Amino acid sequence: MKGILLSGGAGTRLRPITHTGPKQLVPVANKPVLQYALEDFRDAGITEVGIILGHKGREEIQEYLGDGSEFGLEITYIVQGNPLGLAHAAGCAKEFVGDDDFVMYLGDNILHQGIEELVDSYREGDYDAGIALQEVANPRQFGVAAVDESGAVRRLVEKPEAPPSNLALIGVYVFSPAIFDAIEAIEPSWRGELEITDAIQRLLDEDRKIDSHVVEGWWKDTGKPEDILEANRLVLEEIDGAVEGEIEAGAEVSGRVQLDSGAVIQEGAVVRGPVAVAEGTVISDGTYLGPYSSIGPNTEISNAHIESSVIIGESEISTSGKIVDSLIGRNTTIAPADGLLPEGRRLVVGENSDLNL
Ligand code: G1P
Repeated sequence: MKGILLSGGAGTRLRPITHTGPKQLVPVANKPVLQYALEDFRDAGITEVGIILGHKGREEIQEYLGDGSEFGLEITYIVQGNPLGLAHAAGCAKEFVGDDDFVMYLGDNILHQGIEELVDSYREGDYDAGIALQEVANPRQFGVAAVDESGAVRRLVEKPEAPPSNLALIGVYVFSPAIFDAIEAIEPSWRGELEITDAIQRLLDEDRKIDSHVVEGWWKDTGKPEDILEANRLVLEEIDGAVEGEIEAGAEVSGRVQLDSGAVIQEGAVVRGPVAVAEGTVISDGTYLGPYSSIGPNTEISNAHIESSVIIGESEISTSGKIVDSLIGRNTTIAPADGLLPEGRRLVVGENSDLNL
């Protein structure tokens, strides 16, 4: 079995963060989102992985992942070009997949329990597709499956006006190469995309067997800023905490803290886990760093109060204002306005930003 990871897409719902990079590299607990999926492949024994790249962030993704050996994988890059839909992206992997079955994982999705159960269940029967489902409160925003009492899939529909159930297709699928003919047979949807949901419906229309699997652990599609923050909370909730950096005497640290090497919590700082602090970052005197925060690399935090936030890195934050539930992009400076005249907030904010002051 092979794996394909979809890493195209424009990431419009994550602007301005995605103005400068691909959404799949946005960090959750200081690890790029797509790395969670790659680790799931590896844990399921899938080592030959094709990464489907769009236009956005192609170089950055290749630079980060290299040949995959660092992650225990053998990576092949496949260029999709324009994002014409998930089925189009899958179709680009036809040659790479050959006669094998494969798992397709959306590069911006995180599944708490990984993919082993899904893969094992698919292998047990003579299936052409295996889909993972989870109950959601807002099925109109997803692909939705109607299943009967025995769990057999009856119908699949993408972003339905009148959802036949509240079971959403989550971002991981298993396919036999039969999916490629189905992809060639479908037409673009109302949103102009070749939908993988329609391709799987096509398999159903041909009376092929589809395995469905309701996923119990949490699942997050990290398409929007609030999803990144929520995924960050969920991942930090379970970190063990490991101190490889330095905690100075006189710093007050409690709870689980993942402090990477070269990171320092200085005297006079108060840190309450779970938090993650990346290499080269300094949390200095007068700072309160509260639960569910991830601070990326080479960042200086002083006199600030930060909680439930993701600071991507290479930044300087010294405002005394409280920063909560925030997602802050790379190379950002947030400094106090004290003493400056006229009094007021001074902002240099990129396009598509979102501020609550
Ligand atoms: C895509 C799929 C949808 C699926 C969702 C899971 O939606 O089209 O069927 O439920 O991923 O995250 P999109 O993110 O393109 O809106």
